[in-house]
Amino acid sequence: MQFPKTFYLRTYGCQMNELDSELVVGLLEKRGLKRIEQEDEADLLLLNTCAVREMAEKKVVGKLEEIFHKGKKGLIGVLGCLPVAKKDFFLKKFPHIDFLVGPKQLPDLLSILDQAVLQKKSVHLDSAAALEIDYTCAKRESSIKAYVSIMQGCNKYCTYCIVPYTRGKEISRPLASILEEVERLVALGYQEVTLLGQNVNSYGKDLPDQKTLFPDLLYALDHTGIKRIRFMTSHPIDISIDLMHAIRDLASVCEFVHFPLQSGSNRILEKMHRIYTKEDYLEKVELLRSIVPEVALGTDIIVGFPTETEEDFLETLTLFEQVRFATAFIFAYSPREKTPAARWVDDIPLKIKEERLQRMLSLFRTIDQQEKEKELGKTVEILVERFNKDLQKLKGKTKRAEKVIFDGNASLIGTLQNIRLESLSHQTFLGKLIDPTILPT
Ligand code: 5AD
Ligand code: SF4
Repeated sequence: MQFPKTFYLRTYGCQMNELDSELVVGLLEKRGLKRIEQEDEADLLLLNTCAVREMAEKKVVGKLEEIFHKGKKGLIGVLGCLPVAKKDFFLKKFPHIDFLVGPKQLPDLLSILDQAVLQKKSVHLDSAAALEIDYTCAKRESSIKAYVSIMQGCNKYCTYCIVPYTRGKEISRPLASILEEVERLVALGYQEVTLLGQNVNSYGKDLPDQKTLFPDLLYALDHTGIKRIRFMTSHPIDISIDLMHAIRDLASVCEFVHFPLQSGSNRILEKMHRIYTKEDYLEKVELLRSIVPEVALGTDIIVGFPTETEEDFLETLTLFEQVRFATAFIFAYSPREKTPAARWVDDIPLKIKEERLQRMLSLFRTIDQQEKEKELGKTVEILVERFNKDLQKLKGKTKRAEKVIFDGNASLIGTLQNIRLESLSHQTFLGKLIDPTILPT
């Protein structure tokens, strides 16, 4: 078989997968392959997959069924977490897949491809591999903001979650390597980095000297001259007072914390092995708000966890109302093979899960609208990210991660601007540039 000239890549799942896909694109383009958008015409078809919820799995399986139904043309590789979680299933159901590659083996993609061209089917799925992934080759989607991986894996073992099994144990990337990457991004003109890890707040705890923990990393990165630093995800238990002080004291660190609650019922939190109670959670939120009053909080919620009663769910609704989250990802529980919770009866009917999901969503929308209305009239700094052709407006984000559109010249893309928030359209603010020296076009 000839070495492929073109490739099609589709990404499912989290930001870590988006970053991994940027690495894949960088590696393949370096080898001379061209990315195309027509999957039927590509010599190499890659799916970078997610295993976190059943829905993500169904999408990938459906896509592969469609591809094989049409007839296989080029090489096909399945990347990411799903083949690690369900290797045997993939090998049995789709014997024509040429290679399976876990997140930790992506840097070996080119040699894996060489083997596939020689018609050697291969499987590379060791989640325990202690390897620091070098993202130097990544082909960034944006020239303004970039994802930066600061650690791999997770040690928390929440009972519903597959991540510790697919991405392995926590391994922090050495400080020097992160600093070098961010300095390079600054030199290239990047304005914002989002530090990625499954639980960034435990950064450094696995390193031998434990001298540089997550807040120390933020102080070090602030010196690089990067304008904005975001980070995700955080486990509430590891959000420390030092981190809260870093958010308050460092101009570059954005006032937004993704603070996954998962449930507001202590009984369910215990079953989830979240290692905090709702009282602990609220205490942290109050402390954070007393130190950083303007902070916006985001969350993840799972509804319909095994044995969740209406009373448990109402406790989650109440807590949600108390905290008034600015962003929320609400999921219906789905059992994931290998996790402890998958051994329990998935006893909440789909209909009830969906109904709870809708009730939670509708509460979120109400709170979101009320909270955003309070922001109207304020002047905020936004990073201008792009020009939206459909709306003919510039688009950017506040430090609190709110979306803002406004009239202005495309030359402002990549700059920080002061904008007055004037009105709301759905969840997006319509704003006005307030610097009188720059005339809107
Ligand atoms: N079912 C539903 N949601 C899940 N999540 C993780 N595992 C599951 C599961 N088995 C959600 C959690 C986590 C987010 C990334 O995905 O809310 O924070
Ligand atoms: Fe999964 Fe997050 Fe829990 Fe780790 S902390 S096991 S990534 S839900």
